[in-house]
Amino acid sequence: MSAPDDYLDRNRAAWSEVADVHARHRLATLKAGFAAPGFSTFGDPDHVDMARRLRQVGFAGKRVAQIGCNNGRETLSAVNEGAASAVGFDFTPKFLGQARELTAAAGLDDRVDWVEANAMDLPVRYDGQFDLVFTTIGVLGWMRELEHLFDGIARYVKPGGHYVLEEMHPVSLMWDVRQSGGFEPQFSYFTEEVYVEEGGLDYYEDSDYGSREKSYSFTHTLSKIVNLLCERGFVITALDESPHDIGSYFPGLQDQPANPPMGLVIVAEKRS
Ligand SMILES: C[S@@+](CC[C@H](N)C(=O)[O-])C[C@H]1O[C@@H](n2cnc3c(N)ncnc32)[C@H](O)[C@@H]1O
Repeated sequence: MSAPDDYLDRNRAAWSEVADVHARHRLATLKAGFAAPGFSTFGDPDHVDMARRLRQVGFAGKRVAQIGCNNGRETLSAVNEGAASAVGFDFTPKFLGQARELTAAAGLDDRVDWVEANAMDLPVRYDGQFDLVFTTIGVLGWMRELEHLFDGIARYVKPGGHYVLEEMHPVSLMWDVRQSGGFEPQFSYFTEEVYVEEGGLDYYEDSDYGSREKSYSFTHTLSKIVNLLCERGFVITALDESPHDIGSYFPGLQDQPANPPMGLVIVAEKRS
């Protein structure tokens, strides 16, 4: 099965629908957090590999971009950890509205911009501006044409700069969150079928918020991710695979004796 022609609009509608639900769960706590100087969400224990690699690459004095920035908490954290300025890109206006609220709470309006954009068609006016671009868990799967996302990131990163990627490991996507009982993989690692989600996108609380929108996502193998980056002038300088279920994706799977890799972090440096 392939995605419907208007899948991008459908996905935006699905994200827009869940944006208020996520805000109810998290926004007040985040606002209170960002009211304190230097607040950062990179201390989250589920995302230690990503935080370690981002800090190794370093934020100090850099111009940073996050693609698929959601409510902007990680973009703002990058600034609070030393970046000189940052731009967050996302295609869901409601999340960018939340990001502006957090920016005001953090007092960072003069150092951060929020841009509504499709990640597969990033605006050219930011080409060559960034020392560091990053994407965190839950972005790559929305890209039917992953090559278009990486084209944009390759345009954005300055020579000698870095792209840091965190994702659920593609092997873990062989398991279907909708299956009940049992730990048998359900999909080929190499599937090119679209994954259709009808139960909504409340991955924080798994609540039934009466979602009316289906969403459409795609899997990309590790070799495809690595090769696309190499073809765009990146050198892979680190690759981490983690047994931990970094997205609370499939309860119990990480504890199985035959456990798959569940977290992936890649550091890519743009050749000078
Ligand atoms: C699961 S969140 C991932 C971000 C981050 N890890 C987080 O938890 O906040 C996915 C984000 O990607 C955005 N998104 C999905 N498809 C997109 C696209 N084609 N262009 C830009 N943003 C997109 C959604 O609006 C959402 O904010």
